[in-house]
Amino acid sequence: MGYFRENIERAKGYEPGFQPKETDVVKLNTNENPYPPSPAVARAIRNISQEQVRRYPDPTGSVFREAAAQVNEVDPDYIICCNGGDELLKIALQAFCDENRPVAYPVPTYSLYPVLANLQNCGAIEVPFDSEFDLPDELARTGAALTIVCNPNAPTGSFVNVDELASLAGELAGVLLIDEAYVDFAQHNCAGLVKDFENVIILRSMSKSYSLAGIRFGYGIARPALIEGLMKVKDSYNVDSVAITAATAAIKDRNYFTETIEKVKAQRKRLTHQLRDLGFDVPESSANFVLARCTNNSAVELYDKLAKRNIYVRYFAYPKLEDKLRITVGTTEQNDKLISALKEILSE
Ligand SMILES: Cc1ncc(COP(=O)(O)O)c(C=O)c1O
Repeated sequence: MGYFRENIERAKGYEPGFQPKETDVVKLNTNENPYPPSPAVARAIRNISQEQVRRYPDPTGSVFREAAAQVNEVDPDYIICCNGGDELLKIALQAFCDENRPVAYPVPTYSLYPVLANLQNCGAIEVPFDSEFDLPDELARTGAALTIVCNPNAPTGSFVNVDELASLAGELAGVLLIDEAYVDFAQHNCAGLVKDFENVIILRSMSKSYSLAGIRFGYGIARPALIEGLMKVKDSYNVDSVAITAATAAIKDRNYFTETIEKVKAQRKRLTHQLRDLGFDVPESSANFVLARCTNNSAVELYDKLAKRNIYVRYFAYPKLEDKLRITVGTTEQNDKLISALKEILSE
């Protein structure tokens, strides 16, 4: 056609997990939380006034910034609100990267990073993880303007220790963005690093641990100087009033949050054992999904056979992932349906 910039013309775009229209399916393919959000969210949304909707939203989402600051033990000026964690990634690439300033990240990882790099028309330096998914030493030496480490990593569920990320932050000349979209399901997090390092940005998502994927809300934590720079790049009204209200109600309900996380972790443990009993190789996961290596069967065939039974998991045709299925941790009932279907398929 010739209308688009060359890199857009060439781009394939991000491929989101399949979103079936039917509701009577077992959907374990996009890492949503299987439990509903806090009841405080629905109450808060019901109480939104006509006046709040008539006006533009608060450009920085101050009520959420205050609530998130309290949870993360920082001041509100360390927080930036975003239209999903994905928007923070986009803002960071726009803020730090261009043709001469590449982004770097270990692979395999979240498949949105190369898509955003292409949109920004910057170089993307992909450094392979070793077989144990430890942080590769070369990551510190790429000279990238922005280095992204997804921790826990998607789709592996592996976790890099806080000390290692602190060392990396100290070695890098550029910015280190730690994508903690799944960190609430892990033992530790890196939020404390923003106090010691001026170049660290932490990404958080409200989609997974707070069950708000449909609302689109995420946030960043960093030193105020970095936050101010990121604010210049974001849309003026990047988070809407309904989203601010919902996300604030969710993050304030600490008891509900803790209960839900514990439920998901208990299901993760159970699912991991069930899959191992069926012969899958399943490493411990620090996220709300597991990555199961199919030892005697083709992963893509299993994926297809499950989909025919209305059970959706995720298959990635990427190096190191072709023999694996990423399975979101569901409720007891969903996980049991998956396990019985797998038993049936494996005995065919
Ligand atoms: C690794 C990773 N980072 C960030 C996100 C962004 O999540 P959201 O935009 O829903 O907050 C996701 C969502 O799937 C993810 O898997």
